Amino acid sequence: MKPDTLAAQALGWIDETTRAITPPIHVSSTFLRDPDNQYRSGRVYARADNPAYDQAEALLARLEQGQQAMLFASGMAAATAVFQALAPGDHVLAPRIMYWSLRNWLMNFATHWGLQVELIDMHDPAAVHAALRPGQTKLVWIETPANPLWTVTDIAAVASAAHAAGARVAVDSTVGTPVHTQPLALGADLVMHAATKYLGGHSDLVAGALVTRENDAMWQRIRTVRAQLGGTLGSFESFLLLRGMRTLYVRVRHASASAMKIATHFAAHPLVEKVLYPGLPDFPGHEVAARQMHGGFGGMMSICARGGEAAAIATAAEVQLWKRATSLGGTESLIEHRASVEGAGTPAPTNLLRLSVGLEDADDLIADLEAALAAAHR
Ligand SMILES: Cc1ncc(COP(=O)(O)O)c(C=O)c1O
Repeated sequence: MKPDTLAAQALGWIDETTRAITPPIHVSSTFLRDPDNQYRSGRVYARADNPAYDQAEALLARLEQGQQAMLFASGMAAATAVFQALAPGDHVLAPRIMYWSLRNWLMNFATHWGLQVELIDMHDPAAVHAALRPGQTKLVWIETPANPLWTVTDIAAVASAAHAAGARVAVDSTVGTPVHTQPLALGADLVMHAATKYLGGHSDLVAGALVTRENDAMWQRIRTVRAQLGGTLGSFESFLLLRGMRTLYVRVRHASASAMKIATHFAAHPLVEKVLYPGLPDFPGHEVAARQMHGGFGGMMSICARGGEAAAIATAAEVQLWKRATSLGGTESLIEHRASVEGAGTPAPTNLLRLSVGLEDADDLIADLEAALAAAHR
């Protein structure tokens, strides 16, 4: 069956007791012990075992072609659980261009905890080869396409180099989504999603997820991190997440098609210095993206306004339809001056506006941005 079919029916699950097609929201924090002192249900306490996760985890694992999935309280909780499952002293590689909050956590917290974190140009295979320390590097973290420049990393190439050095590979595939990219099939060991974004899809929940290729010792350590540190998702959010995932394919395909149209339009615009979007043929990394992304290049792009920072901020101030807000992957299109969000050390040029393309009509979005650029330059 096609993934669209699996998602639309959430794997076709029905409740055998009530014949319900939509799963109930399980809220119990604790589960009954058997009289002989066993827990045959496999569930003890909801910090570790919440049946509210079952359908969403099963569906996501299937869409990512992995063995198991785990939901978390946020994308950050999911990502940091992977690093917390490593041991102090382990060497990890992460990209210079990546979601800024995770980069900050790696440099300011994970290093204090004893991880040796090295930021490299992950999209450059020579840089990856040079940085890998066989036997010492335990994890290579990829984000592709990566915030906020949409840098593309060749997952298969990095995975084969990392595996040869004895390192695991985890991919933040929040922007690629299972609709366009299958990191596990390309050789990655773990996939991470800020499920807050496209998986949820409606800007109404904060959630994270991991999917593993193998139920191995590392995965069990991650499970222990979730159970003991308590970065667990609420039951209602799990329900919302599954509801969002049912329409994932329709939403992401629409957003990607609109993003391609918008990127193409503004690539030749006199008030735009450049458009950063992996779908554009002259974008560095387009060739790799065309190889590893299927059916589109995602709904995220950035435009660099002519006229510098002031023109970019003025453009964001003038939009009527686009919403000035952070985050991404919702039904509504968002615009933000990324350097203002990320602050000192950001790789975002000061004239960069990050765009999350939603589900509105693409021509309406183009017209609104056109008018805002014109007004900003008046
Ligand atoms: C690519 C990417 N990874 C991870 C995260 C973190 O997710 P959350 O905000 O759910 O913690 C985000 C959030 O913006 C993101 O865009």
